[in-house]
Amino acid sequence: MPQTINVGLVGYKFMGKAHSNGYRQVASFFPEVALRPVMKVLCGRDAAAVQAAAEQFGWQEIETDWHKLVARPDLGLIDVSTPGDSHAEIAIAAAEHGKHVFCEKPLANTLQEAKAMLQAVQKAGVVGMVNFNYRRVPAIQLAKQLIDEGRIGQIYHWRAVYLQDWIMDPSFPLVWRLQKEAAGAGALGDLGAHIVDLARMLVGEVTALNGLTTTFIKQRPLATGTNDGLGATAGQEMGEVTVDDAALFLARFANGAVGSFEATRFAKGRANYNSFEINGSKGTIVFNLERLNELNVFLDEDAPDVRGFRNVLVTDSGAHKYMSAWWPAGHIIGWEHTFTHGVLDLLNGIAAGQAPAPTFEDGMRCQAILDAVERSAQSGSWVEPDYN
Ligand SMILES: NC(=O)c1ccc[n+]([C@@H]2O[C@H](COP(=O)([O-])OP(=O)(O)OC[C@H]3O[C@@H](n4cnc5c(N)ncnc54)[C@H](O)[C@@H]3O)[C@@H](O)[C@H]2O)c1
Repeated sequence: MPQTINVGLVGYKFMGKAHSNGYRQVASFFPEVALRPVMKVLCGRDAAAVQAAAEQFGWQEIETDWHKLVARPDLGLIDVSTPGDSHAEIAIAAAEHGKHVFCEKPLANTLQEAKAMLQAVQKAGVVGMVNFNYRRVPAIQLAKQLIDEGRIGQIYHWRAVYLQDWIMDPSFPLVWRLQKEAAGAGALGDLGAHIVDLARMLVGEVTALNGLTTTFIKQRPLATGTNDGLGATAGQEMGEVTVDDAALFLARFANGAVGSFEATRFAKGRANYNSFEINGSKGTIVFNLERLNELNVFLDEDAPDVRGFRNVLVTDSGAHKYMSAWWPAGHIIGWEHTFTHGVLDLLNGIAAGQAPAPTFEDGMRCQAILDAVERSAQSGSWVEPDYN
């Protein structure tokens, strides 16, 4: 009989649904997974809504208080899929109860919280992993492989944008993502965190940066009923937007590369445009999430008469990471598959007693960069991230 681990998941909306799908799929497509997840308990505050979600997603039981959830002796893994204001307290309590923790990104709302979370998993000796799911797009894994094999050469430039447009209407309500207390930051923490994590994975550590943030629409109608997710409606009363609508920064990396980062929710027509270009001494790599099965590469190693940008369809089961579990070559996969890949690596990591990247240490270092962007935006000067 394969070994199992009982999972408790907090949060049942956008990420709760995506994570549930990951747990449901993982052993069907990766039967070799070292621990099979048992979808034991779904947790949220509204019993009727959690019960309905548990039935929809396939969870056996519900809890309405995360304190009770993390104390349950039958659970081995706690999944934190709530807004940032509860990541630290849930993750730290879970670690103190000896549970492994899978936490949504960004790791926390502040650098101080992120450091406390890292300490908690280290002290408890449990696995802590952050769900920067784009690391597990097969095309991004191929980018990493080309870099590690030296085929791009020395990296000179990182150029990344993460663009959305879902809050451009000034009557869009003040949901939790637009409130600093709940979300920590705006486009910076939500979108910028993803491209920071990818830059750290592909290029290396950021040593200094200079950034700006701005809020284009400073007041919005308060959300009525619920401010969860994107389903909220606008009321009459107005409230202050306390996060950035856009964040941009320039950075220097430890290996001498330089980078630019832009995260915004005000790029008309861009629904989820997460894209980067890396220029090295021997080649260039271009990725765009809206074409997630493809990687654009230019390689000096090609014969001069056919050298040029080529579009690699990253679906070959023999050549491309994770693809052997899915479909024949050319049968593309989607955004949700990245969550299954994350859960796979997490469960294998727990079985091996080793946290897979991005670990809580990676999450803390990403948070240090976000924190530095905010400090630089305030002071108008170059600053160094505080990784200590
Ligand atoms: N990896 C990604 O691509 C990605 C995408 C979107 C969001 N996220 C991250 O996921 C997290 C959740 O975002 P979301 O989009 O799922 O939000 P959401 O609003 O859709 O869902 C949040 C859920 O948390 C629950 N919740 C809130 N506070 C709670 C509490 N104190 N106790 C119990 N339940 C509570 C809500 O009821 C809801 O079910 C955030 O950290 C966000 O940054 C990651």
